[in-house]
Amino acid sequence: MSHTIVLPRIMEIGHDASQKLPTVLRNLAVTKPLIITDKMMVQLGYVDKIQALLAAEGIVADVFDDTVPEPTDRSIEAGVARIQNGDYDVIIALGGGSPIDSAKAMAILGKFGGEIRDYKFPRQVNESGLPIVAIPTTAGTGSEATKFTIITDEANNEKLLCVGLGFVPVAAIIDYSLTTSVPARTTADTGIDAMTHAIEAYVSQKRSPYSDAQALAALRLIGPNLQAAYHDGKNEAAREAMMLGSTLAGIAFCNSSVALVHGMSRPIGAFFHVPHGLSNAMLLPAVTEFSIPAAPERYADCARALGVADYADGIEEANDKLVRFLTDLNQELQVPSLADFGAEHADFEALVDTMCEQAFASGSPSNNPRVPNQAEMLALYRSLWATVASH
Ligand SMILES: [Fe+2]
Repeated sequence: MSHTIVLPRIMEIGHDASQKLPTVLRNLAVTKPLIITDKMMVQLGYVDKIQALLAAEGIVADVFDDTVPEPTDRSIEAGVARIQNGDYDVIIALGGGSPIDSAKAMAILGKFGGEIRDYKFPRQVNESGLPIVAIPTTAGTGSEATKFTIITDEANNEKLLCVGLGFVPVAAIIDYSLTTSVPARTTADTGIDAMTHAIEAYVSQKRSPYSDAQALAALRLIGPNLQAAYHDGKNEAAREAMMLGSTLAGIAFCNSSVALVHGMSRPIGAFFHVPHGLSNAMLLPAVTEFSIPAAPERYADCARALGVADYADGIEEANDKLVRFLTDLNQELQVPSLADFGAEHADFEALVDTMCEQAFASGSPSNNPRVPNQAEMLALYRSLWATVASH
């Protein structure tokens, strides 16, 4: 048996890696970039800096800064039109997961047309769109290293998972210096997302020895540094570890998969507009506890890689420590419950069957070591409210 491994062609990793952007473009033999980003990146001065960097090499970079958080089919239309009406030969995707995911969808739709729902899983999008150089500014979604994009279908309130070689950036510039100004809340949400990627990749039924190695390396970097980066954003060593950990976690799940947490998390995001990392965080302790009986050794490995258990601990003890760590982490990082976030219980009950349907349809739950049936998934969703009652 063999495994297909997919990676960006070039990764530039480390302090001030973004300074190498002109070299990366030269090596890709491209000269007409469109920067796809959001207003925050413009405000922070990152867009000006990149334009100046490129101008010094005689490259004029246009800017599209209208991407939005948790992008939708409608929100990407203007960017698609911009690509279709221009003669760009490369896209520079700058920002958190949302600008990068937006750029991935725009790069395909801009070249091949149609609607994003035409490209949703299980279709494999192996067409080559406009090449993307991804520069993440959070640690993170790992989108800079993956073959996935998530775009919400507004008409149906459904987060569409789109998969294929066509969504893999041709280059990724992993520069932790860009993350030092990320606020604590976003640091927590994106950091938990990265940790979830690594755990799910490691326990997934689609895992391989290659993805295992990436996932464990990611957990070793994320475990000791997530809280440190949250409490002190200027801690460069923590930021550096989180940035690399996030990219390695992206590589891990791109070449394995995510699983039940992500499958159940997307409908929460789509219906209650909970940021992706937060909805993962809300689910992670309960889903981990549910899944451990089907892969206790695997979860014990995760606990040890994160540094919350060691080899003196038996498997059961390591798993207990993992669940306790995940629960305590949510407290420490001030992850709200769904109720705290503002969701109404009645709305939740009215939607929960549809949420289960969407979760199963995404395919992610079937990668989980323990695949829930409908009743089990319902119980897991409802546990989000039980936790509130017990507080
Ligand atoms: Fe994620």
